Amino acid sequence: MLRAMASIIASSSSAALTFDLVARCSTTRARASILTLPHGQVQLPMFMPVATQASLKGLTPEQLEDTGCRLCLNNTYHLGLKPGQEVLAAIGGAHKLQGWNHNILTDSGGFQMVSLLKLANITEEGVRFLSPHDGTPMLLTPEHSISLQNTIGSDIMMQLDDVLVTTSPDYVRMREAMERSVRWLDRCIAAHQNPTTQNLFCIIQGGLDLDMRRGCCKEMVARDTPGIAIGGLSGGEAKADYCRVVVTCTAMLPELKPRYVMGIGYPEDLVVSVALGADMFDCVWPTRTARFGNAITKYGVLNLRNARYASDFGPIEDGCGCACCREGGMGITRAFVHHNTAKETVAAHLLTMHNVWYQLDLMRGVRDAIIADKFPAFLRKFFADLYPDKEKYPTWAVDALRGVGVDLHTEDI
Ligand SMILES: *[C@@H]1O[C@H](CO)[C@@H](O)[C@H](O)[C@H]1NC(C)=O
Ligand SMILES: *[C@@H]1O[C@H](CO)[C@@H](O)[C@H](O)[C@H]1NC(C)=O
Ligand SMILES: [Zn+2]
Repeated sequence: MLRAMASIIASSSSAALTFDLVARCSTTRARASILTLPHGQVQLPMFMPVATQASLKGLTPEQLEDTGCRLCLNNTYHLGLKPGQEVLAAIGGAHKLQGWNHNILTDSGGFQMVSLLKLANITEEGVRFLSPHDGTPMLLTPEHSISLQNTIGSDIMMQLDDVLVTTSPDYVRMREAMERSVRWLDRCIAAHQNPTTQNLFCIIQGGLDLDMRRGCCKEMVARDTPGIAIGGLSGGEAKADYCRVVVTCTAMLPELKPRYVMGIGYPEDLVVSVALGADMFDCVWPTRTARFGNAITKYGVLNLRNARYASDFGPIEDGCGCACCREGGMGITRAFVHHNTAKETVAAHLLTMHNVWYQLDLMRGVRDAIIADKFPAFLRKFFADLYPDKEKYPTWAVDALRGVGVDLHTEDI
Protein backbone atom coordinates (compact mmCIF):
# COMPACT_ATOMS: atom_id res chain seq x y z
CA MET A 1 0.00 0.00 0.00
CA LEU A 2 1.22 3.47 -0.84
CA ARG A 3 1.57 5.59 2.28
CA ALA A 4 2.09 9.28 2.65
CA MET A 5 5.71 10.30 2.45
CA ALA A 6 6.93 13.33 4.26
CA SER A 7 10.25 14.89 4.98
CA ILE A 8 11.71 15.32 8.42
CA ILE A 9 11.04 18.65 10.12
CA ALA A 10 13.06 18.10 13.28
CA SER A 11 14.87 15.25 15.01
CA SER A 12 16.35 14.18 18.28
CA SER A 13 18.42 11.14 19.14
CA SER A 14 19.57 9.29 22.19
CA ALA A 15 21.75 6.18 22.35
CA ALA A 16 19.08 3.67 21.24
CA LEU A 17 16.28 5.82 19.81
CA THR A 18 15.77 8.47 17.16
CA PHE A 19 12.64 10.57 16.96
CA ASP A 20 12.01 12.24 13.59
CA LEU A 21 9.09 14.63 13.48
CA VAL A 22 7.55 14.60 10.00
CA ALA A 23 4.34 16.63 10.39
CA ARG A 24 2.42 18.82 12.80
CA CYS A 25 -1.33 19.22 12.43
CA SER A 26 -1.97 22.94 11.86
CA THR A 27 -5.15 22.81 14.00
CA THR A 28 -4.79 20.25 16.81
CA ARG A 29 -1.76 19.10 18.78
CA ALA A 30 -1.42 15.94 16.65
CA ARG A 31 1.97 15.02 15.22
CA ALA A 32 3.29 12.37 12.86
CA SER A 33 6.77 11.00 13.40
CA ILE A 34 9.14 8.13 12.80
CA LEU A 35 10.59 6.33 15.77
CA THR A 36 13.78 4.39 15.11
CA LEU A 37 14.39 1.69 17.68
CA PRO A 38 17.01 -1.08 17.89
CA HIS A 39 14.76 -3.45 15.89
CA GLY A 40 13.77 -1.00 13.18
CA GLN A 41 11.46 1.90 12.47
CA VAL A 42 7.89 2.40 13.60
CA GLN A 43 5.51 5.07 12.38
CA LEU A 44 3.74 7.23 14.95
CA PRO A 45 1.00 7.68 15.99
CA MET A 46 0.60 3.96 16.59
CA PHE A 47 -1.28 1.35 18.53
CA MET A 48 0.64 -1.53 20.12
CA PRO A 49 -1.21 -4.83 20.42
CA VAL A 50 -1.02 -6.88 23.60
CA ALA A 51 -2.05 -10.49 23.71
CA THR A 52 -4.17 -11.23 26.75
CA GLN A 53 -1.79 -14.12 27.41
CA ALA A 54 0.74 -15.97 25.34
CA SER A 55 -2.12 -18.26 24.43
CA LEU A 56 -3.51 -20.18 21.46
CA LYS A 57 -5.57 -17.15 20.55
CA GLY A 58 -2.42 -15.10 20.23
CA LEU A 59 -1.19 -14.49 16.71
CA THR A 60 1.87 -16.14 15.24
CA PRO A 61 4.75 -13.74 14.61
CA GLU A 62 3.91 -13.92 10.85
CA GLN A 63 0.27 -13.06 11.48
CA LEU A 64 1.25 -10.19 13.75
CA GLU A 65 3.68 -8.93 11.13
CA ASP A 66 0.90 -9.09 8.52
CA THR A 67 -1.13 -6.53 10.51
CA GLY A 68 1.74 -4.08 9.99
CA CYS A 69 2.77 -4.31 13.64
CA ARG A 70 6.46 -3.49 14.20
CA LEU A 71 6.27 -2.91 17.96
CA CYS A 72 4.28 -5.18 20.23
CA LEU A 73 3.87 -5.22 23.97
CA ASN A 74 4.85 -8.20 26.11
CA ASN A 75 4.27 -8.69 29.82
CA THR A 76 7.33 -8.78 32.03
CA TYR A 77 5.37 -10.49 34.77
CA HIS A 78 4.30 -13.37 32.52
CA LEU A 79 7.74 -13.74 30.91
CA GLY A 80 9.35 -13.65 34.36
CA LEU A 81 7.17 -16.54 35.49
CA LYS A 82 7.39 -18.48 32.24
CA PRO A 83 9.91 -19.24 30.83
CA GLY A 84 11.64 -17.29 33.65
CA GLN A 85 14.77 -15.18 33.74
CA GLU A 86 17.29 -18.04 33.53
CA VAL A 87 15.76 -19.52 30.38
CA LEU A 88 15.38 -16.06 28.83
CA ALA A 89 19.04 -15.36 29.52
CA ALA A 90 20.07 -18.70 28.01
CA ILE A 91 17.97 -18.11 24.86
CA GLY A 92 19.15 -14.53 24.51
CA GLY A 93 15.92 -12.66 25.19
CA ALA A 94 12.30 -12.43 24.11
CA HIS A 95 12.97 -11.64 20.43
CA LYS A 96 14.77 -14.97 20.02
CA LEU A 97 12.29 -16.82 22.23
CA GLN A 98 9.39 -16.04 19.92
CA GLY A 99 11.08 -15.49 16.55
CA TRP A 100 10.12 -11.80 16.40
CA ASN A 101 12.69 -9.57 14.73
CA HIS A 102 10.76 -6.37 15.24
CA ASN A 103 10.46 -4.25 18.36
CA ILE A 104 9.12 -5.21 21.76
CA LEU A 105 7.96 -2.98 24.61
CA THR A 106 7.70 -4.48 28.08
CA ASP A 107 5.82 -3.18 31.07
CA SER A 108 7.53 -3.13 34.47
CA GLY A 109 5.55 -6.06 35.81
CA GLY A 110 4.24 -3.96 38.68
CA PHE A 111 0.80 -3.23 37.32
CA GLN A 112 0.16 -6.88 36.54
CA MET A 113 1.03 -7.72 40.09
CA VAL A 114 -1.06 -5.07 41.69
CA SER A 115 -4.03 -5.88 39.47
CA LEU A 116 -3.74 -9.67 39.38
CA LEU A 117 -2.62 -10.26 42.92
CA LYS A 118 -4.98 -8.45 45.17
CA LEU A 119 -2.66 -9.12 48.07
CA ALA A 120 0.24 -7.06 46.80
CA ASN A 121 1.55 -4.40 49.19
CA ILE A 122 3.64 -1.46 48.13
CA THR A 123 6.47 -0.09 50.24
CA GLU A 124 9.44 2.16 49.44
CA GLU A 125 11.49 -0.94 48.67
CA GLY A 126 9.10 -2.29 46.03
CA VAL A 127 5.96 -4.36 45.51
CA ARG A 128 5.53 -7.23 47.96
CA PHE A 129 3.38 -10.11 46.83
CA LEU A 130 2.85 -13.79 47.35
CA SER A 131 4.04 -16.13 44.63
CA PRO A 132 1.05 -17.38 42.62
CA HIS A 133 2.81 -20.76 42.51
CA ASP A 134 3.47 -21.58 46.12
CA GLY A 135 2.52 -18.53 48.14
CA THR A 136 6.09 -17.64 49.14
CA PRO A 137 6.55 -13.92 49.81
CA MET A 138 8.32 -12.14 46.95
CA LEU A 139 9.45 -8.59 46.33
CA LEU A 140 9.54 -6.77 42.98
CA THR A 141 11.93 -3.83 43.26
CA PRO A 142 12.79 -1.26 40.59
CA GLU A 143 16.17 -3.02 40.30
CA HIS A 144 14.56 -6.42 39.81
CA SER A 145 12.10 -5.12 37.22
CA ILE A 146 14.96 -3.58 35.22
CA SER A 147 17.09 -6.69 35.54
CA LEU A 148 14.24 -8.79 34.13
CA GLN A 149 13.60 -6.33 31.31
CA ASN A 150 17.34 -6.22 30.53
CA THR A 151 17.29 -10.01 30.21
CA ILE A 152 14.14 -9.87 28.06
CA GLY A 153 16.01 -7.41 25.84
CA SER A 154 12.95 -5.29 25.03
CA ASP A 155 13.54 -2.22 22.87
CA ILE A 156 11.45 -0.12 25.24
CA MET A 157 11.37 -0.88 28.96
CA MET A 158 9.00 0.77 31.40
CA GLN A 159 10.06 2.01 34.83
CA LEU A 160 8.48 0.40 37.90
CA ASP A 161 5.95 2.92 39.19
CA ASP A 162 3.58 3.18 42.10
CA VAL A 163 0.18 3.15 40.41
CA LEU A 164 -3.10 3.98 42.07
CA VAL A 165 -6.49 4.06 40.40
CA THR A 166 -7.05 7.64 39.27
CA THR A 167 -10.36 7.74 41.04
CA SER A 168 -8.69 7.18 44.42
CA PRO A 169 -9.87 9.98 46.71
CA ASP A 170 -6.79 9.73 48.94
CA TYR A 171 -4.75 12.85 48.08
CA VAL A 172 -1.93 12.04 50.48
CA ARG A 173 -1.49 8.51 49.13
CA MET A 174 -1.70 9.83 45.53
CA ARG A 175 1.06 12.33 46.24
CA GLU A 176 3.18 9.63 47.88
CA ALA A 177 2.70 7.36 44.84
CA MET A 178 3.67 10.14 42.44
CA GLU A 179 6.79 11.11 44.40
CA ARG A 180 7.75 7.48 44.89
CA SER A 181 7.45 6.88 41.16
CA VAL A 182 10.05 9.62 40.63
CA ARG A 183 12.38 8.04 43.20
CA TRP A 184 11.84 4.62 41.60
CA LEU A 185 12.72 6.10 38.19
CA ASP A 186 16.09 7.14 39.63
CA ARG A 187 16.63 3.60 40.90
CA CYS A 188 15.61 2.18 37.49
CA ILE A 189 18.04 4.48 35.68
CA ALA A 190 20.84 3.46 38.05
CA ALA A 191 20.05 -0.26 37.58
CA HIS A 192 19.76 -0.16 33.78
CA GLN A 193 22.62 -2.21 32.29
CA ASN A 194 22.03 -1.64 28.57
CA PRO A 195 21.32 2.04 27.92
CA THR A 196 22.87 1.87 24.44
CA THR A 197 20.62 -0.94 23.25
CA GLN A 198 17.42 -0.57 25.30
CA ASN A 199 15.30 2.48 26.06
CA LEU A 200 13.87 3.16 29.49
CA PHE A 201 10.69 5.27 29.55
CA CYS A 202 9.48 7.17 32.62
CA ILE A 203 5.81 7.17 33.64
CA ILE A 204 4.02 10.33 34.75
CA GLN A 205 1.65 9.78 37.66
CA GLY A 206 -0.51 12.08 39.76
CA GLY A 207 -4.05 10.86 39.27
CA LEU A 208 -6.58 13.44 38.12
CA ASP A 209 -4.91 16.28 40.01
CA LEU A 210 -3.53 18.58 37.34
CA ASP A 211 -1.05 20.32 39.66
CA MET A 212 0.31 16.99 40.76
CA ARG A 213 0.58 15.90 37.11
CA ARG A 214 2.44 19.13 36.29
CA GLY A 215 4.85 18.61 39.18
CA CYS A 216 5.44 15.05 38.05
CA CYS A 217 6.02 16.11 34.41
CA LYS A 218 8.65 18.57 35.58
CA GLU A 219 10.52 15.96 37.63
CA MET A 220 10.29 13.25 34.98
CA VAL A 221 11.28 15.49 32.06
CA ALA A 222 14.37 16.58 34.03
CA ARG A 223 15.53 12.93 34.10
CA ASP A 224 15.74 13.01 30.29
CA THR A 225 14.59 9.49 29.43
CA PRO A 226 14.34 8.74 25.67
CA GLY A 227 10.54 8.52 25.83
CA ILE A 228 7.78 9.49 28.21
CA ALA A 229 4.61 7.70 29.28
CA ILE A 230 1.49 9.07 30.91
CA GLY A 231 0.28 6.40 33.32
CA GLY A 232 -2.43 5.60 35.79
CA LEU A 233 -5.26 6.45 33.41
CA SER A 234 -7.97 4.24 31.96
CA GLY A 235 -8.95 3.28 35.49
CA GLY A 236 -12.61 4.21 35.30
CA GLU A 237 -12.20 8.00 35.46
CA ALA A 238 -14.60 10.22 33.49
CA LYS A 239 -13.40 10.70 29.91
CA ALA A 240 -13.44 14.47 30.36
CA ASP A 241 -11.01 14.09 33.29
CA TYR A 242 -8.85 11.76 31.23
CA CYS A 243 -8.64 14.36 28.43
CA ARG A 244 -7.72 17.13 30.87
CA VAL A 245 -4.83 15.08 32.23
CA VAL A 246 -3.52 14.17 28.76
CA VAL A 247 -3.71 17.72 27.45
CA THR A 248 -2.07 19.11 30.59
CA CYS A 249 0.83 16.67 30.32
CA THR A 250 1.41 16.95 26.55
CA ALA A 251 1.62 20.75 26.94
CA MET A 252 4.63 20.27 29.22
CA LEU A 253 6.46 17.50 27.40
CA PRO A 254 9.37 18.08 25.02
CA GLU A 255 8.23 18.04 21.41
CA LEU A 256 10.94 15.70 20.15
CA LYS A 257 10.23 12.69 22.33
CA PRO A 258 7.60 9.98 21.92
CA ARG A 259 4.58 10.25 24.24
CA TYR A 260 2.89 7.04 25.25
CA VAL A 261 -0.49 6.98 26.99
CA MET A 262 -0.80 3.62 28.71
CA GLY A 263 -3.86 1.38 28.60
CA ILE A 264 -5.86 3.21 25.92
CA GLY A 265 -7.50 1.35 23.02
CA TYR A 266 -11.10 2.30 22.19
CA PRO A 267 -11.05 3.84 18.71
CA GLU A 268 -12.65 7.13 19.87
CA ASP A 269 -10.11 7.41 22.69
CA LEU A 270 -7.24 6.85 20.29
CA VAL A 271 -8.18 9.50 17.75
CA VAL A 272 -9.00 12.09 20.42
CA SER A 273 -5.78 11.38 22.33
CA VAL A 274 -3.76 11.89 19.14
CA ALA A 275 -5.47 15.27 18.71
CA LEU A 276 -4.38 16.08 22.27
CA GLY A 277 -0.75 15.38 21.37
CA ALA A 278 -0.14 11.70 22.22
CA ASP A 279 1.69 9.24 19.94
CA MET A 280 1.59 5.69 21.32
CA PHE A 281 -1.09 3.52 22.91
CA ASP A 282 -1.68 -0.04 24.06
CA CYS A 283 -4.67 -1.94 25.31
CA VAL A 284 -5.82 -5.54 25.75
CA TRP A 285 -9.37 -4.63 24.70
CA PRO A 286 -9.10 -5.42 20.94
CA THR A 287 -7.73 -8.91 21.61
CA ARG A 288 -9.85 -9.53 24.69
CA THR A 289 -13.09 -8.51 23.01
CA ALA A 290 -12.30 -10.87 20.12
CA ARG A 291 -12.82 -13.72 22.59
CA PHE A 292 -16.42 -12.63 23.02
CA GLY A 293 -17.11 -12.70 19.28
CA ASN A 294 -16.71 -8.94 18.81
CA ALA A 295 -15.39 -7.43 15.59
CA ILE A 296 -14.25 -3.80 15.65
CA THR A 297 -15.35 -1.93 12.51
CA LYS A 298 -15.54 1.69 11.50
CA TYR A 299 -19.31 1.56 12.01
CA GLY A 300 -18.92 0.22 15.53
CA VAL A 301 -18.43 -3.12 17.27
CA LEU A 302 -20.35 -6.08 15.81
CA ASN A 303 -21.09 -9.13 17.90
CA LEU A 304 -20.82 -11.99 15.43
CA ARG A 305 -22.44 -14.37 17.90
CA ASN A 306 -25.70 -12.71 17.02
CA ALA A 307 -28.01 -15.01 15.02
CA ARG A 308 -28.39 -12.40 12.31
CA TYR A 309 -24.87 -13.27 11.07
CA ALA A 310 -25.60 -17.00 10.64
CA SER A 311 -26.12 -16.58 6.91
CA ASP A 312 -24.17 -13.37 6.30
CA PHE A 313 -21.59 -14.34 3.71
CA GLY A 314 -19.87 -10.97 3.59
CA PRO A 315 -16.38 -10.43 5.06
CA ILE A 316 -16.02 -9.41 8.73
CA GLU A 317 -15.74 -5.83 7.47
CA ASP A 318 -16.18 -4.65 3.90
CA GLY A 319 -13.04 -3.08 2.52
CA CYS A 320 -10.85 -4.30 5.39
CA GLY A 321 -7.28 -5.24 4.40
CA CYS A 322 -6.69 -7.88 7.09
CA ALA A 323 -5.74 -11.46 6.25
CA CYS A 324 -9.33 -12.63 6.94
CA CYS A 325 -11.20 -9.98 4.95
CA ARG A 326 -9.02 -8.79 2.09
CA GLU A 327 -9.52 -9.92 -1.48
CA GLY A 328 -7.34 -12.91 -2.15
CA GLY A 329 -7.07 -13.41 1.62
CA MET A 330 -8.53 -16.25 3.68
CA GLY A 331 -12.07 -15.55 2.50
CA ILE A 332 -13.47 -15.62 6.02
CA THR A 333 -17.17 -14.73 6.18
CA ARG A 334 -19.20 -13.42 9.11
CA ALA A 335 -21.21 -16.64 8.89
CA PHE A 336 -18.04 -18.71 9.30
CA VAL A 337 -16.99 -16.73 12.37
CA HIS A 338 -20.54 -16.98 13.72
CA HIS A 339 -20.58 -20.77 13.36
CA ASN A 340 -17.25 -21.03 15.13
CA THR A 341 -18.00 -18.80 18.09
CA ALA A 342 -18.96 -21.88 20.07
CA LYS A 343 -15.53 -23.36 19.41
CA GLU A 344 -14.04 -20.27 20.92
CA THR A 345 -10.44 -20.50 19.75
CA VAL A 346 -10.99 -20.47 15.98
CA ALA A 347 -13.31 -17.47 16.00
CA ALA A 348 -11.24 -15.63 18.59
CA HIS A 349 -8.11 -16.17 16.57
CA LEU A 350 -9.67 -14.80 13.36
CA LEU A 351 -11.26 -11.85 15.15
CA THR A 352 -7.95 -11.08 16.88
CA MET A 353 -6.31 -10.83 13.46
CA HIS A 354 -9.08 -8.56 12.22
CA ASN A 355 -9.23 -6.38 15.34
CA VAL A 356 -5.48 -5.84 15.54
CA TRP A 357 -5.45 -4.91 11.86
CA TYR A 358 -8.35 -2.50 12.44
CA GLN A 359 -6.50 -0.70 15.24
CA LEU A 360 -3.23 -0.43 13.36
CA ASP A 361 -4.97 0.64 10.17
CA LEU A 362 -6.95 3.29 12.04
CA MET A 363 -3.66 4.76 13.19
CA ARG A 364 -2.21 4.58 9.68
CA GLY A 365 -5.22 6.60 8.50
CA VAL A 366 -4.70 9.08 11.34
CA ARG A 367 -1.04 9.44 10.40
CA ASP A 368 -1.75 9.97 6.70
CA ALA A 369 -4.36 12.61 7.58
CA ILE A 370 -1.89 14.48 9.82
CA ILE A 371 0.75 14.42 7.09
CA ALA A 372 -1.78 15.71 4.53
CA ASP A 373 -2.88 18.28 7.15
CA LYS A 374 -6.46 17.00 6.94
CA PHE A 375 -6.78 15.60 10.44
CA PRO A 376 -9.83 17.72 11.47
CA ALA A 377 -11.72 16.38 8.43
CA PHE A 378 -10.56 12.85 9.31
CA LEU A 379 -12.00 13.28 12.81
CA ARG A 380 -15.35 14.50 11.45
CA LYS A 381 -15.60 11.53 9.09
CA PHE A 382 -14.54 9.09 11.81
CA PHE A 383 -17.28 10.24 14.19
CA ALA A 384 -19.87 10.47 11.40
CA ASP A 385 -19.22 6.83 10.45
CA LEU A 386 -19.35 5.65 14.04
CA TYR A 387 -22.46 7.63 15.07
CA PRO A 388 -25.02 8.06 12.28
CA ASP A 389 -26.86 10.42 14.62
CA LYS A 390 -24.78 13.51 15.43
CA GLU A 391 -26.79 13.98 18.61
CA LYS A 392 -25.19 10.79 19.93
CA TYR A 393 -21.59 12.00 19.64
CA PRO A 394 -19.99 11.60 23.07
CA THR A 395 -19.92 14.99 24.79
CA TRP A 396 -16.44 14.45 26.21
CA ALA A 397 -15.05 13.92 22.68
CA VAL A 398 -16.87 16.93 21.24
CA ASP A 399 -15.57 19.10 24.11
CA ALA A 400 -12.00 17.78 24.04
CA LEU A 401 -11.74 18.29 20.30
CA ARG A 402 -13.27 21.76 20.53
CA GLY A 403 -10.51 22.52 23.03
CA VAL A 404 -7.92 21.85 20.31
CA GLY A 405 -9.76 23.73 17.58
CA VAL A 406 -11.96 21.05 15.96
CA ASP A 407 -15.72 21.44 15.75
CA LEU A 408 -17.22 18.00 15.08
CA HIS A 409 -20.58 19.45 14.25
CA THR A 410 -19.56 21.69 11.39
CA GLU A 411 -20.31 20.48 7.85
CA ASP A 412 -17.01 21.72 6.41
CA ILE A 413 -14.50 19.09 5.54
C1 LIG B 1 4.23 -10.75 22.74
O1 LIG B 1 3.18 -9.94 22.26
C2 LIG B 1 2.57 -10.36 21.06
C3 LIG B 1 1.52 -9.32 20.71
O2 LIG B 1 0.58 -9.22 21.69
C4 LIG B 1 1.98 -11.75 21.25
O3 LIG B 1 1.42 -12.20 20.03
C5 LIG B 1 3.04 -12.69 21.73
O4 LIG B 1 2.46 -13.95 22.02
C6 LIG B 1 3.70 -12.15 23.01
N1 LIG B 1 4.77 -13.03 23.41
C7 LIG B 1 4.92 -13.52 24.62
C8 LIG B 1 6.09 -14.43 24.82
O5 LIG B 1 4.15 -13.26 25.54
C1 LIG C 1 0.38 -6.90 53.20
O1 LIG C 1 0.20 -6.17 54.39
C2 LIG C 1 -0.73 -6.76 55.28
C3 LIG C 1 -0.93 -5.81 56.45
O2 LIG C 1 0.28 -5.27 56.89
C4 LIG C 1 -0.19 -8.13 55.74
O3 LIG C 1 -1.10 -8.74 56.60
C5 LIG C 1 0.01 -8.99 54.48
O4 LIG C 1 0.58 -10.22 54.84
C6 LIG C 1 0.91 -8.30 53.51
N1 LIG C 1 0.96 -9.07 52.26
C7 LIG C 1 2.10 -9.35 51.63
C8 LIG C 1 1.98 -10.12 50.36
O5 LIG C 1 3.21 -9.00 52.02
ZN1 LIG D 1 -10.69 -7.71 8.55
